[in-house]
Amino acid sequence: MAIQFTNESISSLTADWLVIGLVESAPLPSAITKLDETLGGLISRLRESEDFTGKLASTSSLLGLTDIKPLRIMLVGLGPAAEVSVSALEKAMQTAARSISTKPNTRIAVQLPDLGESSLDSSETATLISAAMIVGSVGQDIYRKEAGRHPFEEINIVGAENSDPSTGKTAVERGAILGESINLAREMVNRHAGDIFPISFADRVVEVAKSCGLESEILDEKQLTQEKMGSMLAVSQGSDQPPRLAILKHQGADPSGPTLALVGKGVTFDSGGLSLKPSDGMKTMKCDMGGAAAVLGAMAAIARLKLPVNVIGYMGLVENMVNGSSYKLGDVLTARNGKTIEVLNTDAEGRLVLADVLTLAADRGAAKMIDLATLTGACVVALGEEVTGVFSNDASWSQSVQDAAKTCGEVVWEMPMFSQFADQLKSDVADLKNIGTRWGGAITAAKFLENFVNETPWVHLDIAGPAFAGANQPHQEGGGTGCMVKTLVEVANQFNASK
Ligand code: BES
Ligand code: MN
Ligand code: ZN
Repeated sequence: MAIQFTNESISSLTADWLVIGLVESAPLPSAITKLDETLGGLISRLRESEDFTGKLASTSSLLGLTDIKPLRIMLVGLGPAAEVSVSALEKAMQTAARSISTKPNTRIAVQLPDLGESSLDSSETATLISAAMIVGSVGQDIYRKEAGRHPFEEINIVGAENSDPSTGKTAVERGAILGESINLAREMVNRHAGDIFPISFADRVVEVAKSCGLESEILDEKQLTQEKMGSMLAVSQGSDQPPRLAILKHQGADPSGPTLALVGKGVTFDSGGLSLKPSDGMKTMKCDMGGAAAVLGAMAAIARLKLPVNVIGYMGLVENMVNGSSYKLGDVLTARNGKTIEVLNTDAEGRLVLADVLTLAADRGAAKMIDLATLTGACVVALGEEVTGVFSNDASWSQSVQDAAKTCGEVVWEMPMFSQFADQLKSDVADLKNIGTRWGGAITAAKFLENFVNETPWVHLDIAGPAFAGANQPHQEGGGTGCMVKTLVEVANQFNASK
């Protein structure tokens, strides 16, 4: 795949498809007026007859063209000009990318839309469109002989005639890095648990570190024991697959400066353990390492973008299974920070893994932390499948993370951290128990984690809903979504300024 920026005239570009985004009921931008004239008024006629209105993510294909070099045009609606946002533009562009990537070896050109009064500038637009084309052209069909999607052979992002090519090039390359990093996170989730288990995930982490210029460190079960990670180790003890803690370091600023820690839940398969899940609840549980996949994708992007910040990514990798050594209900575990935990449900395993990894991250000197986890079904009940739950012990750090998500068009919603929920976790036999009552389960899980972050400003992102899409949609492939990769990169981008 090659991706470039150009400011050549769109009618003279070699391409199988030319993608043009148009806002609803506005005059055609000048570059498109010219093209329309060359095509004998075809685009204007489609708009007059209301065969193409510009409604968000609606498309119209113009085939068999002879008057211009591109062979086909796809018009895609951007909705009303006043409502064009990052997420609207992404939805439109991914719809176009998904629909034209069904054949191999496709070369495309995308005209940068004229967004007039919108708050998006042309660089941001070029970045966003580049990422959307790369994400939209990759499917979850890894294991199919006949793939449904094919990465584009060539992508040309076409700017205005007088636009600066070097600014355009930077914006497009940034978009390519983001798109590829999102696809890396998606691929890790989409691979089944026979392919991705703690050791193979860690191998992939080392590979990514080499190719992106990150430092990596992998702790095996012996080292995890030395590090007193009793809570995390208990979860993995019922699996034939030994656990790993994978760590990636990006030193983009002075070593004496603050470090941002990103912590991901990496349960490569969650059967529930002895508190076994029913089949229906288990069938998508290869996605339970979505937090770790987001950390991996974000670290790859942060390194490739050479962001001038210090970031460490921690991925806690275990498989939650059932065998003769499985951890049991009633077991009392001792976490790295010395707190004891009574296990009353082996399916509440994510918090047990994160507990020790958060403590390790804090002990190694994180100035601020974010964890990402497909932690609770309760969060999906509360916020639905597309919204990430935000929980924090620090209002201003939480606000910075939420602002970054908003900039990236990722939907998040803050949840309360009332102390009543911590009361549910009191145990008669240990310092804590690992579940509360049925109600407010996403919050009790977050209150549990709060015990393991010391006083470090911390944000917990529950991505149980958005990490995995149940079905293909016109704008989004089913399977792993790569959610929060962009937001994490944006947080890192703002990190030194946000102190
Ligand atoms: N991995 C699950 C949460 C999950 C559910 C992720 C649905 C994605 C989609 C987690 O380990 C889990 O099983 N949580 C339990 C907690 C309960 C036992 C307190 C849950 O949500 O039921
Ligand atoms: Mn579970
Ligand atoms: Zn889980």
